[in-house]
Amino acid sequence: MKVIIADDYEIMSREAAKVVAAEIEKNPDCVLALPTGGTPLGFYAELVRMHKEEGLDFSRVTTFNLDEYLGLPETHKSSYAFYMYDNFFNDVNVNRDRVHIPRGLAEDPHEEAAAYEREIKKAGGIDLAVLGIGRNGHIGFNEPKTEFGSLTRPIYLAKRTIEANARFFDDDPDAVPRQAISMGIKTIMNSRKIILLANGPEKSGAIYQTIHGPVTDMVPSSVLQLHPDCTVFLDRDAASELKPPSDDVVQGPGIMSMVY
Ligand code: PGA
Repeated sequence: MKVIIADDYEIMSREAAKVVAAEIEKNPDCVLALPTGGTPLGFYAELVRMHKEEGLDFSRVTTFNLDEYLGLPETHKSSYAFYMYDNFFNDVNVNRDRVHIPRGLAEDPHEEAAAYEREIKKAGGIDLAVLGIGRNGHIGFNEPKTEFGSLTRPIYLAKRTIEANARFFDDDPDAVPRQAISMGIKTIMNSRKIILLANGPEKSGAIYQTIHGPVTDMVPSSVLQLHPDCTVFLDRDAASELKPPSDDVVQGPGIMSMVY
């Protein structure tokens, strides 16, 4: 796996945004999978800046969000739909017809998930998936013990995830929905290219296991070791437990790049 360790969160966010910009420049019709949460806020801010100041054009890009809570309308301020429009879509020229987020109020979540999977296929598959990571190694809402062969489906959130996400629900864990629709591990692994972002000391253990640990369904992100084109973007805190790499470290301004 390729690992980029940035001196700080801003540089990490900028470097990850550059990968998306390069993908769009290479293929203006590319299909992106997009994350939510605290981690990618700087990444979205940088993409918005690139759109406004450098003309980065999202008009032909198709997006699929990784997941959405079940039971929340998209107008709810803690829904991922709200997050996406608030932090990103409202500030760039994305075509709303090309935006896909599972509907939290879908009457039949299983059918919603199956239809989502069909839409991804119809779009030609995901060119670039951008991921965050949970403290328990979840990617999307694929919690420990998720099958590697899983596709988009309704899931139950792990207790640790509910506790971690309570901060987006006025610190009230009881307000966090217990279920969500999430792309599966297989859906994510089928992406042609994957980048994962993690910052802060609370992610360092999960990052260690992602990169050094055995590939196990107890740490869903460890499956990324099997992907042919995956790059992990970290700040120093998230990288603090990593072993020294066996390959050469390439230094750039504010970043170190290495292969594990
Ligand atoms: P966070 O969430 O960025 O809010 O830490 C990441 C995740 O749970 O995937």
